[in-house]
Amino acid sequence: MSTRKGLILAGGTGSRLWPITQGLSKQLMPIYDKPMIYYPLSVLMLTGIRDIGIITTPQDQVQFQNLLGDGSQWGITITWLVQPNPEGLAQAYLIAEEFLAGESSAMVLGDNIFFGHGLPELLASADTQTAGGTVFGYRVADPERYGVVGMDGDGKVTKIIEKPEVPPSNYAVTGLYFLDGTAPERARSIQPSARGELEIVTLLESYLNEDALTVERMGRGYAWLDTGTHGSLLDAGNFVRTLQSRQGMQTGCPEEIAYEAGWIDDAALRVLAERYAKTGYGDYLRGLL
Ligand code: G1P
Repeated sequence: MSTRKGLILAGGTGSRLWPITQGLSKQLMPIYDKPMIYYPLSVLMLTGIRDIGIITTPQDQVQFQNLLGDGSQWGITITWLVQPNPEGLAQAYLIAEEFLAGESSAMVLGDNIFFGHGLPELLASADTQTAGGTVFGYRVADPERYGVVGMDGDGKVTKIIEKPEVPPSNYAVTGLYFLDGTAPERARSIQPSARGELEIVTLLESYLNEDALTVERMGRGYAWLDTGTHGSLLDAGNFVRTLQSRQGMQTGCPEEIAYEAGWIDDAALRVLAERYAKTGYGDYLRGLL
């Protein structure tokens, strides 16, 4: 089990997906058969993190609570936090400062979906880094849409730029950040960007400037899926559907992760399976017993 605390940032207006996200938070949208937030939550659980803070907008919080409760059904503890206005990803560390209480953390954006053979091992390795920060670089065709890392000839990271017009590489920084306990203090000292946000890349730069930032590359065996446009949202759903129906296994299934980790027992899993009795998801949970 990890001693790190988990954070999921699930705020924002989802305005790029309007009208579908006008009445419902983006991170509650379906990715095939599960709400989007199940996937990033699963990443934290796969890391072995059981103490998780979820940051939402004030108005959406109750819907997330209806879905996830206090986490005890999966052997985890959820602390509910609020971001009143979308003022940048780094602001999450200010909002969560008390919750983090000086501990290191793993933050994942509520709309980031990861899949890959070897993911648990990659997460476990990042988890062992107790000082500094670790982020994950992923090769994409359209780096200008993301935070991008620039590297020297030896592959060492030299810079991180948010949505560069001329990207220094094709490696985007994914929305998964393993940072040490100094993150809130660093977030307090950074200045808002031109668009008025506390940028995550500025926070990461403060680690980079001290040679305290590790960038792990996720190779071609990984999928890091985007949900930022209507097309990519549908593609992500289709990807999950294709994979699950071919393999007969779920991806992003918190019940399965909790059960495999021994955080819930047979009786608890049976109760969860019963709740979904009318669905293939329920059949799958029953099959795990
Ligand atoms: C944010 C970050 C960006 C990162 C991306 C990952 O961008 O600012 O650095 O690469 O998440 O999903 P946004 O999606 O908020 O534009």
